[in-house]
Amino acid sequence: MKVVHTVKELRDALAAEKALQKTVGFVPTMGALHKGHASLVKRSVAENGVTVVSVFVNPTQFNDASDLDKYPRTLEADCELLATCGADYVFAPSVSEVYPEPDTREFSYAPIDTVMEGKFRPGHFNGVCQVVSKLFDMVQPDTAYFGEKDFQQLAVIRAMVADQQFGIDIVGCPIVREDDGLAMSSRNTRLSAEERENALNISKTLFKSRTFAADHSVTETMQMVEKWINDSPGLQLEYFEIVDGDSLQPVDEWDESPYIVGCITVFCGPVRLIDNIVYKEL
Ligand code: PAF
Repeated sequence: MKVVHTVKELRDALAAEKALQKTVGFVPTMGALHKGHASLVKRSVAENGVTVVSVFVNPTQFNDASDLDKYPRTLEADCELLATCGADYVFAPSVSEVYPEPDTREFSYAPIDTVMEGKFRPGHFNGVCQVVSKLFDMVQPDTAYFGEKDFQQLAVIRAMVADQQFGIDIVGCPIVREDDGLAMSSRNTRLSAEERENALNISKTLFKSRTFAADHSVTETMQMVEKWINDSPGLQLEYFEIVDGDSLQPVDEWDESPYIVGCITVFCGPVRLIDNIVYKEL
């Protein structure tokens, strides 16, 4: 596995690989890698001739400066994990390598990017599209892999790829959970032991709501989740929405769409955690 820091090094290395007709799989990350990322990388390795993983904490997608400062940066440990997954290249650029000039481009995929995270983190998806479009341009992969935990991000990236005609296959990979159900996240490392215990009620509530949803309305299911989270010690609900899995618009009835997902964001102490659950799928 080779670690490269500049676009030139990356392009030179990939030109040689592409000359050998190898397909390129790409996993963009912000580092602080865990088993969820490992599952994306392993899938890419299984499906492609070459796998590139980017490790870059993208400043333009943080609308809260302290969140950006606190984001864990663990490149050495990340590289160790990536080597065990079979990645071929780690691209770990500096901020000035990715943004030699301020990025003034604006991406807008309303209404997909204006609900939920779009409402609570204004500018977040614009920053994600800025960096992912740059990374796509640098790597020029055949296929790129994203986790379904960031459900709305995946939908926004699909919209951007269609809009910008990147010609890249976007593969969504299932959420990887700890044995007790907590969705894996780089932010979990910031939880104290007590917060980690409290955070468990997020996935527990979502799993219970799936059983509950079988004989209750959408409104009742929303109320159940809101009450359970608000009654859980140390948790503060930011939003819970039950939405159509493609348009991300709220649904009122279970028969409104063949694909329905519940998306949640909760503060566990100071740490903002997201998760989701599929209620209905084709
Ligand atoms: O999901 C993430 O880790 C980031 O949003 C991404 C896609 C790597 C862009 O910075």
